[in-house]
Amino acid sequence: MLAINKGAEDSERATTLVIGYKYTSYYLIHRLFIYSTGFNEIAIKRGKSMVSKQLPFTKTKLTEIIEKHPTPFHLYDEKGIIDNARQLKDAFSQIHGFKEYFAVKALPNPYIMKLLMAEGFGADCSSMAELLLAEKTGIVGEDIMFSSNDTPAEEFIKAKELGAIINLDDISHIEYLEETAGLPEIICCRYNPGPLKGGNVIIGSPEEAKYGFTREQLFEGYRKMKEKGVKRFGLHTMVASNELEPDYFIETARLLYELIAELSMELDIRFEFVNLGGGIGISYRPEQDPVPYDVIANGVREAYEEFIVGNGLNPLRTFLECGRVITGPYGYLITGVRHLKHIYKDYVGTDACMANLMRPGIYGAYHHITVLGKEDQEATNLYDVTGSLCENNDKFAIDRLLPEVKRGDILVIHDTGAHGHAMGFNYNGKLRSSEILLRKDGSFVQIRRAETVDDYFATLDMSGLSGFE
Ligand SMILES: Cc1ncc(COP(=O)(O)O)c(C=O)c1O
Repeated sequence: MLAINKGAEDSERATTLVIGYKYTSYYLIHRLFIYSTGFNEIAIKRGKSMVSKQLPFTKTKLTEIIEKHPTPFHLYDEKGIIDNARQLKDAFSQIHGFKEYFAVKALPNPYIMKLLMAEGFGADCSSMAELLLAEKTGIVGEDIMFSSNDTPAEEFIKAKELGAIINLDDISHIEYLEETAGLPEIICCRYNPGPLKGGNVIIGSPEEAKYGFTREQLFEGYRKMKEKGVKRFGLHTMVASNELEPDYFIETARLLYELIAELSMELDIRFEFVNLGGGIGISYRPEQDPVPYDVIANGVREAYEEFIVGNGLNPLRTFLECGRVITGPYGYLITGVRHLKHIYKDYVGTDACMANLMRPGIYGAYHHITVLGKEDQEATNLYDVTGSLCENNDKFAIDRLLPEVKRGDILVIHDTGAHGHAMGFNYNGKLRSSEILLRKDGSFVQIRRAETVDDYFATLDMSGLSGFE
């Protein structure tokens, strides 16, 4: 039986297996998985009061925000983001030249990026829009890591123009980059360790993943780039997603440091940095503990001493490019209860939907829900908490025990600060919500407005309709 605290990831794994199937089979397999593994929220919690997660705001403060900004919206906690950024930096300050490149895809908002930039974080970008976001935020040069795949020429050109560190996803991109943007002085390659590294839930098994160079290709690729005059080198990998086990990252560091030692010796090139990727998980469930940064940092330092210092290859900088763990726990989807529906099950219908938060719908991922002002009440009622999309998997929670919910109640859906608003979409004519930042001093500011129907129609030229038959 699987451990309960692995539930969110395991549930995501189950869903990954069935993506592409009709919802009915999704639902059946998902439920079968839940029952066969013993991972069952009802079993965990029935008869107990709701396990709680703390909120960084009071009911009074949230009510004040809602009066100004109608639900639904994502609310981000500046203090939480900054304190966490500093904890990460402190833990890794023992690692030579450490830098975190925030994975912009997790929360592509320039205000958040600017806060992180002030903490010394760079930006990990993967598309033209993300490069432009970094540029507009004031993050340029080698403070940008550009890790894309199936990359179009214009993105390489823009990345080079910004002076970003380009992280190549494939050996064929060496020539493509040379032909399109020209080879820069510094280049990084993404390593896919294949069978050398066990798989992880969202990203899958490395052998099945489309990303990166094989080991043999790395030797060939760096040799080729050296011959072509590239002077500075980095090595990258990204083999985990939402991983809660610190050893996983220490093993990744050992794998890369050891490989750097081999590449340096065989090719007679000097590496400047290693990028361990992102993937540090977060405790979506109240029973889970956050990943201890210091345990990872201590293990990484030991590996550095063994392989890098031990082989006389220091100094070598070590980078991370985490997204989820940087902002995930500090975001909340705030949504009002619009309707209560009682048929074969009891449904709480909210004014949000999958367009605001897809993770439960597509991965079966767990997001904790607090009913504002009812934190101390017994979780007596079993609900499916739904959105308004015409898709049966538009559910934020299935079989969730909550205190009795009434129309007009406010639900706080936790841990939406990464891959929440960012994954939004417009299917069914649904509009993406606003994003509000709760400042350290208790004030709040809208950092993205909600979409309007005009935004939805902005790409359609209706004037052509009159003469169109
Ligand atoms: C190349 C790359 N780097 C970093 C990240 C960030 O991962 P996480 O948000 O899990 O830390 C991702 C996520 O998909 C990624 O693809």
